[in-house]
Amino acid sequence: MKPHVVCHMLASLDGSLHPSRYTTSPDGTRAEWSGIYEQVHGDLEGDAWIVGRVTMAEMSKVGAHPPAHAGKVERPHHFAQRDAGSFAVALDASGKLHFSKSDIGGDHVVVLLGHRVADSHLAELAADGVSYIVSETAEMDLGRLLDVLGRELGIRRLLLEGGAGINGSFFAAGLVDELSLLVAPALDARAANQGFVEFGESGLAGKVLLSLTSCEALAHGLIHLRYAVTPG
Ligand SMILES: NC(=O)c1ccc[n+]([C@@H]2O[C@H](COP(=O)([O-])OP(=O)(O)OC[C@H]3O[C@@H](n4cnc5c(N)ncnc54)[C@H](OP(=O)(O)O)[C@@H]3O)[C@@H](O)[C@H]2O)c1
Repeated sequence: MKPHVVCHMLASLDGSLHPSRYTTSPDGTRAEWSGIYEQVHGDLEGDAWIVGRVTMAEMSKVGAHPPAHAGKVERPHHFAQRDAGSFAVALDASGKLHFSKSDIGGDHVVVLLGHRVADSHLAELAADGVSYIVSETAEMDLGRLLDVLGRELGIRRLLLEGGAGINGSFFAAGLVDELSLLVAPALDARAANQGFVEFGESGLAGKVLLSLTSCEALAHGLIHLRYAVTPG
């Protein structure tokens, strides 16, 4: 069964997802906003979180290091640790991410890969103690991949934590159940402002419905907005 998906993000008043570009505020600092983001992450009680390839690349910067002999690799999935309790999941269609260890901050790494990923990449991930699931269809079917996470690893509550690209794909596919948005008292306002959710040229009009469930003022000028999300 698909896990319940909560998209959890920090944004400026004009929707930007890049805190380093925000105006400053007498109410709080970027570090304080990030601290509250992490605190709310804990309060949301996910048993896993998922990010896009670009966001995971900021957390795991090691280069490619395939083993000399790939040997036999497992497809469509390999689970190095099923009982980790908490999981860090990354969407990486073409196998560009590499890892030096099997966890991020104590959460066991699981990579969702495209159909055409090379055996040598799978061997590298397995040698690093990382788990993976390879898409069985040419186009990555995100719903099916989430089903596997639920069925095989027992993930019930998944926090979708950006960036814009993966958020857009999940919203468009009707896979998001809730939005938890922390709005900082800040503006980005660059012409090329990147919003916290993006979906190509067509956007999400007609694809999702948002309904406000709560609105709470937190410390340091943050507003916590929560919405129920249903397919449009
Ligand atoms: N404000 C916040 O709360 C917050 C939270 C997280 C991240 N961020 C920021 O967000 C920025 C990154 O955002 P981003 O939109 O550029 O990148 P992203 O969402 O992290 O990653 C996008 C990538 O994920 C893969 N992907 C997404 N949808 C896919 C699909 N349907 N099928 C297959 N692969 C898919 C693609 O990888 P390939 O290109 O390899 O195909 C795509 O380029 C970073 O600067 C990060 O710091 C902010």
